[in-house]
Order: sequence, then C-alpha cells, then structure tokens
Amino acid sequence: MIALGCDHGGFALMKEVIDYLEKNGLEYKNFGTYSEESCDYPVYGKAVANAVASGECEKGILICGTGIGISISANKVKGVRAALCGDCFSAQATREHNDANILAMGARVTGAGLALKIVDTFLNTPFSNDERHIRRINQIED
Ligand code: RB5
Repeated sequence: MIALGCDHGGFALMKEVIDYLEKNGLEYKNFGTYSEESCDYPVYGKAVANAVASGECEKGILICGTGIGISISANKVKGVRAALCGDCFSAQATREHNDANILAMGARVTGAGLALKIVDTFLNTPFSNDERHIRRINQIED
C-alpha cells in the first residue's frame, strides 16, 4: 500500500501519479489534499509520514510546489526517510543507499513525464542491503 499526500501546489501532478498507480495495478491510500484550494503542506506530509512509520503503508509519495516543505515535514517523523528527487539517478540511489521510504517531488520543478519515471524508479528499486548502508541508516536514528 502506497500512502499519497500533496498540497494545492502538488494536486495536479498527484492526479497523474494516481493514474500511473491505477494503470499499474498498485494499491494506494490518498491522504489528500483533494482540490487546488490553498492548504498547509505539513498536514499532508505528516499524515503520510505517520502512515509509513506505523507500517500502515509500505511507502509514500509526497508532492508540493517545490517538494521541500512537504519533505521537511515528513522527515520530522521518526523512522521516515523522505527523499526529494528531481531525477531518476537520485530516485534509484536513495532506494539503494538510504532505503528511502517516501519519495517527495516538486510539481513546480519537475514535469509530469519525468515525475512518473521517477516514481517508477523509486517503486521498483530495492534496497541494496549492504552492511555499510544499513550502518549509516541506523546512525540517522541514533
Ligand atoms: C505553496 O505555495 C508552496 O509554498 C508549497 O507547495 C511548497 O513549495 C513548500 O515548500
């Protein structure tokens, strides 16, 4: 189950992400927002972060205008590793090296075509399980 969250700045791109998930038969839980009316990104960043940290959802996708505010908010929740990505190399590396459990993107920064490739890369790249990466991830939580 993939947790989804966005603010008004990310709403249009999130519709494209939802289309992608449905076409690929992937289950999701949408924590909002549900319109382009102005709203506060921390509400949605934290809702998705809590769903991932509790184990209710395996991964999350967050979108705001830049991806910055919503990823900062999500990373306040213990156990969350939200990675702001604007390219596929970073999406692959953050799964392999950081075992990132939330992908954040900026809808005013990254076009829909690239964003969907980033989503695809993030969801389909496993964690490396390398000892050095496990050690470093554990240090994040210390
Ligand atoms: C909303 O205008 C904008 O500030 C928000 O989407 C995001 O970019 C914050 O980091």
